[in-house]
Amino acid sequence: MKVVCGRASQSLGSKLARNLGVEILPAEYRTFPDNEQYLKLDREPSEDIVVVQSIVSDSGFVNLLFLLDALGNNEITAVVPYFGYARQDKKFKEGEPISARAIAQAIDGYIEKLITVDVHDKGISKYFDSADFRNLTAFKEISGQIPKKTNQLVVAPDEGAIEYAETLSSELNCSYDYFEKKRESEENVKTERKSLDVEGKQVIVADDIVSTGGTMANAIKVLKQQGASSIKVAVTHSVFADNSVQKIYSAGADEIISTDTIEKSISNVSVSETIAKEIRE
Ligand code: R5P
Repeated sequence: MKVVCGRASQSLGSKLARNLGVEILPAEYRTFPDNEQYLKLDREPSEDIVVVQSIVSDSGFVNLLFLLDALGNNEITAVVPYFGYARQDKKFKEGEPISARAIAQAIDGYIEKLITVDVHDKGISKYFDSADFRNLTAFKEISGQIPKKTNQLVVAPDEGAIEYAETLSSELNCSYDYFEKKRESEENVKTERKSLDVEGKQVIVADDIVSTGGTMANAIKVLKQQGASSIKVAVTHSVFADNSVQKIYSAGADEIISTDTIEKSISNVSVSETIAKEIRE
């Protein structure tokens, strides 16, 4: 078995190869002046391949597709730690595409297995006709970064994040609660002022994605007003668009813990061991 690291997952792919005790099959990447992509594998493989590439951007998706095509007929496991477009998992309005389905169908025929991490909607597994679909959670590795305390509480910033709050709280042996959220536009969200018992508590807010930071910042502000003594943000996918990091700290967060499913300077937890365990099984 060899690991191929896509352009967006060079560090995670390397850590995964080390955890698995296998070598990397090197690939060369270039972008032409007209922005078309070129890649070349070091050699045509004849062994099983694990290809690691998050879909963080459209060019990241093209990079994954070209890698799969170059890898030929070997048994391929695609590790797509961040499955971009998973939030467009259905038609919300007439005339829209099901973007997650379009991506799944483009890669399905090339691969035996798809491994993803805290995918926004596990329901997208139905868009893979032949590949075995596995979704893992990063919240066990995230919990390793958080010292257990007696007065901790995990909070989900909306109902969709309850499963992450549940997993993290069970790892930390504490309780969890959640907010209700209304999205007023792409940039604006309103967190309902549901009253949580957070007075004097060390709160950890858990979610799958921070994008604009609006969801997190709103939850943090309400938690501060309700008397939380400290606030950590725990998030799997570090999209962190524009000024979202500043927005979150300005709202009152003390620490951000996020993973390398998207490789950013703020990603301080690796999901490589969780993925390696799944591949070893
Ligand atoms: C949506 O339901 C997700 O779980 C996140 O809460 C959302 O993507 C975060 O987006 P933003 O940071 O833009 O509020």
